[in-house]
Amino acid sequence: MDSWTSVPESFRSGAGPLPAPWEAVFGPLRVAKADRMMVVGQLGQSLDGRVAAPTGHSHYINGPAGLAHLHRLRALVDAVVIGIGTALADDPQLTARRVSGPQPVRVVIDPSGRLPGSARLLADDGVRRIVLCASEVRPSLPQGIEIVGLPKSDGQIAPSTILAALAERGLRRILIEGGADTVSRFLAAGCLDRLHLIVAPIVLGSGRVGLALPPIQRADQALRAPMHVHRLDDEVLFDCDLSARRVALAQA
Ligand SMILES: NC(=O)c1ccc[n+]([C@@H]2O[C@H](COP(=O)([O-])OP(=O)(O)OC[C@H]3O[C@@H](n4cnc5c(N)ncnc54)[C@H](OP(=O)(O)O)[C@@H]3O)[C@@H](O)[C@H]2O)c1
Repeated sequence: MDSWTSVPESFRSGAGPLPAPWEAVFGPLRVAKADRMMVVGQLGQSLDGRVAAPTGHSHYINGPAGLAHLHRLRALVDAVVIGIGTALADDPQLTARRVSGPQPVRVVIDPSGRLPGSARLLADDGVRRIVLCASEVRPSLPQGIEIVGLPKSDGQIAPSTILAALAERGLRRILIEGGADTVSRFLAAGCLDRLHLIVAPIVLGSGRVGLALPPIQRADQALRAPMHVHRLDDEVLFDCDLSARRVALAQA
């Protein structure tokens, strides 16, 4: 039996360490420190810190090991969240297909209601699908899709409001899968417990940059987080522990 097969169940049961070699990579995602939610962001990027070509094309930045890692994350969380930019550019399915395990609830942040009803992540396959819009927006989407209106403040839906809405719906382990804009907003708001940055051994040379945070004046003001490094074949996973700056959610 593949050593991964029992991981999704042991991960959720919380009993004993995960079987080797999975405890080192996924064990830290079992423990929520700030409240009862665990939020992990992920981005796959090139050596020069880019997450997509100038056209927005991002398939094949990560190889099979990086993709398997992403699907393992999907199989361990309650819900996977993407921004509307990724939904429109990639039309992803957001299922855990490359590894065994349960399927996560699929969530899109779509403040203006731009997601077409034909999007693949809305496929009616028995898994919950949630679209988060600004309160005043009423998108016309097929039946069975949960549409949740959330208030905007300072031009966005506060990441903490998004997490509270997911917690209210029983979703406590959350993967913020991308794109860079969405992950950056959660990071800037102190709404990530961990960040999994998967660096592929390629140089894109141009294209979309990854994380973007409010500007700082000096390099010594940079965000420096405790970090573990893991090899994923020829890619490298940087697992950053952001729990010290995670804001606690009253509702979680
Ligand atoms: N390499 C990777 O790991 C990876 C992963 C995912 C995607 N990608 C690539 O990244 C590109 C898309 O990413 P992106 O950064 O442009 O877009 P994105 O993060 O997918 O979506 C950004 C949009 O989502 C909405 N949004 C997200 N958080 C919000 C919040 N808190 N409040 C209000 N609105 C919010 C906004 O929509 P509105 O514009 O409607 O306001 C925002 O412009 C694609 O090229 C895709 O292929 C790469």
